[in-house]
Amino acid sequence: SKTPNQLLVIFGSSGDLTQRKLIPSIFKLYCEGHLPENFGVLGVSRSEVSDEDFRKKVVLENQHISDTIGNFAKRDSFAEKIFYQALGDSYDLDYSPLRERIEALDKTMGCDGNCMFYLSVPPKIYETIASRLNEQGLSKESEGHRRLIVEKPFGYDLDTARELNKGLQDNFGESQIYRIDHYLGKETVQNLLVTRFSNSIFEPLWNRNYIRHVEITNAESVGVGKRGGYYDSAGALRDMFQNHLLQIISLVVMEPPIDAKAESIRNEKVKALKSLRIMTDPDILHQNTIRGQYLSGEIDGEQVLGYREESGVDPNSTTETYAAIKFFVDNWRWADIPFYVRTAKRMPTKVTEIVIHFKTPHHQLFKDSGVDSKDNKLIIRIQPNEGILVKFGVKVPGQGFKVERANLDFYYDDLKGTRVMDAYERLLLDAMQGDATLYARADEVEAAWEFVDPILNYWKTDKNVVTYGYSAGMWGPNNADELLEGDSYWRNP
Ligand code: BG6
Repeated sequence: SKTPNQLLVIFGSSGDLTQRKLIPSIFKLYCEGHLPENFGVLGVSRSEVSDEDFRKKVVLENQHISDTIGNFAKRDSFAEKIFYQALGDSYDLDYSPLRERIEALDKTMGCDGNCMFYLSVPPKIYETIASRLNEQGLSKESEGHRRLIVEKPFGYDLDTARELNKGLQDNFGESQIYRIDHYLGKETVQNLLVTRFSNSIFEPLWNRNYIRHVEITNAESVGVGKRGGYYDSAGALRDMFQNHLLQIISLVVMEPPIDAKAESIRNEKVKALKSLRIMTDPDILHQNTIRGQYLSGEIDGEQVLGYREESGVDPNSTTETYAAIKFFVDNWRWADIPFYVRTAKRMPTKVTEIVIHFKTPHHQLFKDSGVDSKDNKLIIRIQPNEGILVKFGVKVPGQGFKVERANLDFYYDDLKGTRVMDAYERLLLDAMQGDATLYARADEVEAAWEFVDPILNYWKTDKNVVTYGYSAGMWGPNNADELLEGDSYWRNP
């Protein structure tokens, strides 16, 4: 669909994200002809910088552009669309100079009054910025659209998430607020909807009658890097599970929406999240949650530090870099079917995948043949080697009925000639076009916190909770195997 003329205002534009992700993504959209005729970017930060210097920094001399994109010829014309406005000592000031600049640019560039604000700043000042913009009438959609894009974390727990939602909604309507979750921008995450709802061979099996359990792994080989300070007060549950993983889970669990519109899909996702059984009993939490922390170890032949030795991390920290959770979904489709989900840093490799484990056929004809049929699996690989794999049994040629496992697979790489858009490109373009399907709604975020909050509380307050150590480069603490029922094991890809 057509992208309306507009101005994109980036708050916190002196930060790393603008240079690393936002501008390179917009540049790619520009090179591929996705941007509207009249389009501009206004970077906003506290410090005084000229338009020229800002253009140099984020476009002309930006490593992330020259490294990845061979489209140099277009850099100069793209740079002319980039502007900068300094705010002053703080973000909490009178925004009239900013409003005047926006109005002037809107006129000269012909942006038709459409404006999108991207907040790439610490969440604690989201509300301040939203109210300062509102004070200047910049959230009013009298001429064109006005949208506000915010990045996670959306709150630190349920209460702060509610406060944040309210603070934003006091100034912008919910339909103007776009909460970015970059996992929703991943092609393979969106493909979950297509796999389930545009094929007649998966959805009929997608329920408790045929599925034995669901397993989701999100592993990274990186450690906390330079983000020790932030990470130590967050931990894996807040950093990955509350947002990215619960988004994936909601797409696996949800019922078919009545149509593919943003509200219909998001309504079903909220329903899905609300059907997760909330665990509050300490014994239940003890049996179903495991946290771990990486120790020093070796990854790809390289010796790496333990978490507690990382800079910015408390040497006595109990913050988890590994979390494994078992839970149930209390609805008609999923009753009694366990979900096993884990996320961790410093694993042997980087991989995110969903494994649907199917039940054994009711009557086992070939049970003496070696491979039993409970190994039927559907594996949805989110990253890397994006694709889908079905594992099923085939007969080994020769006498008798020996069964062996075979794969039916599809990899995105096989779709030659199509470039998979980076998550930020896709999400920015959607927001410019007013499509909120891949953005988290306030009630989704709150429902996700409702599930996570009691786990965090238990981990924080219960004296019996252990943070298990695991050597970097291993698949997490052994105790995590106990979460799984006797006859199954984590699939370590
Ligand atoms: C971010 C987390 O949201 O997602 C990081 O804050 C994590 O800790 C990252 O490394 C993972 O994203 P991806 O796209 O590399 O899987």
